[in-house]
Amino acid sequence: MTKQTNCLPSHVAIIMDGNGRWAEARGLPRTSGHREGVEAVRRTVKAANSIGIKYLTVFGFSTENWARPSQEIGFLMGLIRAYFGSRLAELLAGNVKIRVIGDQSVFDTEIQRLLQKAQIDSSENTGLELIVALNYGGRAEIVRAVNRAHSQGVDAGGLEEKHVSAYLDAPDVPDPDLLIRTSGELRISNFLLWQLAYAELYFSPCFWPEFDENEFERAVAAYQSRARRFGGLKS
Ligand code: IPE
Ligand code: IPE
Ligand code: MG
Repeated sequence: MTKQTNCLPSHVAIIMDGNGRWAEARGLPRTSGHREGVEAVRRTVKAANSIGIKYLTVFGFSTENWARPSQEIGFLMGLIRAYFGSRLAELLAGNVKIRVIGDQSVFDTEIQRLLQKAQIDSSENTGLELIVALNYGGRAEIVRAVNRAHSQGVDAGGLEEKHVSAYLDAPDVPDPDLLIRTSGELRISNFLLWQLAYAELYFSPCFWPEFDENEFERAVAAYQSRARRFGGLKS
């Protein structure tokens, strides 16, 4: 048995990658991969909720993903609409609290309304907190935080780390303990740049549509076997 060093991670963040390649490997359009990817989100939310993870942040759409063909972007917007519309009941029934990070002002008014409604309707829930990053980029978030700090009276010369932390999109959420990226890619792709400073990284070879509770538990077990030192010495 693996020696367990850490408790359960309180916050797990996931870069859900490989939808397109999963579909292409099956001779399907990339959009089928995105549709299956939503099923993987549903499985993972259930798994995280049932093992007692407190926060789960998933990267749904990056500030760089606007570079994709408009047909693919349109399909992804449809999935966002469906996830926060017809699929909302399932999240509410699971006692999931929903938060959205990223700049939502670019989305159409229907999506903005659904995102607001999901956050309001789930605000009293006490189970897993699901944080969905939409039109999210780590650099953009840091710039937003600095601008918010300035507009709240923190002057440029007096800016400290605690100010940046305090004005991030979800300032009350603790930093991720564990970052999972699927599809074998070994990069961060502008995700949670500030918050991942001391996260443990886990790279899974599976494409996101194949991700399930077993792979999630493998990642958590790998995390539990790591020694976190935060620059100090192992106790
Ligand atoms: C992740 O899968 C989903 C989003 C980025 C929206 P990809 O669409 O990036 O799939 P690959 O990486 O092209 O296989
Ligand atoms: C990161 O995946 C963004 C999301 C998962 C939403 P990408 O597929 O966009 O990242 P790159 O382009 O491979 O770095
Ligand atoms: Mg990708």
